[in-house]
Amino acid sequence: MRIGIVGGTGDIGEGMALRLSSTHEVIVGSREAEKAIASCTACEEMLSERGLECSLLGVGNQAAVDAADVVVLALPFKHVAGTLQSLCGFEDKIVITPVNPIERSTYFYYAPPPEGSAAMLVKKLLPESATVCAAFNNIAAKKWKILDEVLDYSVAVCCDDESAKRQVMDLVNGISELKAYDAGPLAAASMVESVTPLLLNVGRLNKLRDAGVRFV
Ligand SMILES: NC(=O)c1ccc[n+]([C@@H]2O[C@H](COP(=O)([O-])OP(=O)(O)OC[C@H]3O[C@@H](n4cnc5c(N)ncnc54)[C@H](OP(=O)(O)O)[C@@H]3O)[C@@H](O)[C@H]2O)c1
Repeated sequence: MRIGIVGGTGDIGEGMALRLSSTHEVIVGSREAEKAIASCTACEEMLSERGLECSLLGVGNQAAVDAADVVVLALPFKHVAGTLQSLCGFEDKIVITPVNPIERSTYFYYAPPPEGSAAMLVKKLLPESATVCAAFNNIAAKKWKILDEVLDYSVAVCCDDESAKRQVMDLVNGISELKAYDAGPLAAASMVESVTPLLLNVGRLNKLRDAGVRFV
């Protein structure tokens, strides 16, 4: 699978590139291609220290979309709309959103847009032939990056297209010990996104590092 990561130089993007590039072709996108190249070089070094081969290419965000079958939007919520409006070429691609609209007062809380969730906003902004899937919303970036740690979380996947959902669930199940669960249509993604501020509050107040979700 060719996986393009828009905003791939950030915390989630780098972590996903590290975990996915041994088994998939990963194209890391950035607003600045040089930043993406530097991020790929750092990832390659970490992987080669472990004797792992990888396929990583650093490019601009548009080139990452163009080269990919599956695009991951690894962007802060507040930059999603502007970035999507500046990019094109999403037709017929699967677009994964791990994006969580979160605000903070004395605690973290879910702050979705009028569309109901980040996932539904992404769907509205993309061409109809793009298939949006919410996944990976509840895994802390630090966990992705510590390669020696097993990732044994549950991953809720929301999507309106059964074939695309299956492909994303297969992608999830191929990463460490992650287990994908069908969490319904994209309209249900608000529930998945809203779990993340809960995890942040529980983590902070109970000194739990990078709390996650496991369905049992
Ligand atoms: N961090 C976590 O633990 C975690 C866990 C689960 C889900 N998520 C979700 O994953 C998404 C990414 O989180 P993150 O922590 O990886 O974010 P991040 O590190 O803060 O940012 C990701 C990338 O966004 C790009 N970016 C920053 N400002 C931008 C702007 N004004 N316009 C366009 N692009 C911009 C940057 O890439 P360039 O500078 O290279 O363009 C940056 O590397 C978020 O929506 C978050 O809710 C995060």
